[in-house]
Amino acid sequence: MKTIAVLTSGGDAPGMNAAIRAVVRTGCQNGMRVLGIRRGFNGLMNGDMYEMNLRSVSDIINRGGTILYSARSPEFKTDEGLNRALRVCKENSIDGIVIIGGDGSFRGARDLSLKGVPCIGIPGTIDNDIACCDYTIGYDTAMNTVMEMVDRIRDTTESHDRCSVVEVMGRRAGYIALNAGIAVGATSILIPEVEFDIDKDVIETMQKTQRTDKKHFIVMVAEGVSEKIGGVERLTKYIEEKTGVESRATILGHVQRGGSPSLRDRLVGSQMGNYAVHILMEGKGNRVVAMQKEQIMDFDIYEALNMTKSIDLGLYKTALEISI
Ligand code: F6P
Repeated sequence: MKTIAVLTSGGDAPGMNAAIRAVVRTGCQNGMRVLGIRRGFNGLMNGDMYEMNLRSVSDIINRGGTILYSARSPEFKTDEGLNRALRVCKENSIDGIVIIGGDGSFRGARDLSLKGVPCIGIPGTIDNDIACCDYTIGYDTAMNTVMEMVDRIRDTTESHDRCSVVEVMGRRAGYIALNAGIAVGATSILIPEVEFDIDKDVIETMQKTQRTDKKHFIVMVAEGVSEKIGGVERLTKYIEEKTGVESRATILGHVQRGGSPSLRDRLVGSQMGNYAVHILMEGKGNRVVAMQKEQIMDFDIYEALNMTKSIDLGLYKTALEISI
């Protein structure tokens, strides 16, 4: 391995910069030339890259976003896009690439590996929805952001004896909603992984708590559920009609993806970035770095993409029992 490259792809996540920093520093310390590719696979197809050194990644460990910028790249999924990327790799003598992103990005890594450019994926997404990993970079920061924001919402919800319906990110996964929902004391939590009935799981639960004198409520809804039920505004009106409690909806949106990364995201990003370069140096490609039971390991990308992961139903039961 003489020249390696690094890129970030898909939705950005706090901690991606820590991973970039670790890739660049590990590469440089081991005598490699390290190229930073801008804007994900788009940058790879267009040859948009620059040589990085130890100082290119100074003062970024504490910064949200990604200094390499990110993009979703439908063009890369075409044969033409892949061939352009392969040409750029050859022209720039790229011997291996570290790709930080979600499972869409890993599919790109798999395609490049298959064509002879060894790639290592690092899981970076606030959604924590990558099957082979217990933990993805950005998840902890996003949950803490949600907790802080909802604590603020709670202040005004309580002052007005209202119900606040809060939509959080997670189109396919309810990890943020479930964990942050427990942390903010939500009365109901709706996630895509668990079947629900609005009348039973939201309205009746609220009415039950009203009988024990509860006057303000937080209902936490994952984005995937919100899409399914026609949006949180609609749910909010329904709650108001059925319970008589004045209700407001808040969609937290992209505030969840920004901000300075937490200690955990800086640490895991650093560990995974370092690990990724070491496995490239061992001659491995087509691998995903993962964290399971706090241990960093790696899997074949095919294997990783075929794995499934289920949400902790025990945690969901805990939420039900203590939300009353
Ligand atoms: O990064 C994951 C995610 O934040 C999802 O939770 C959300 O559905 C999606 O990205 C939003 O993507 P975009 O910023 O492209 O609208």
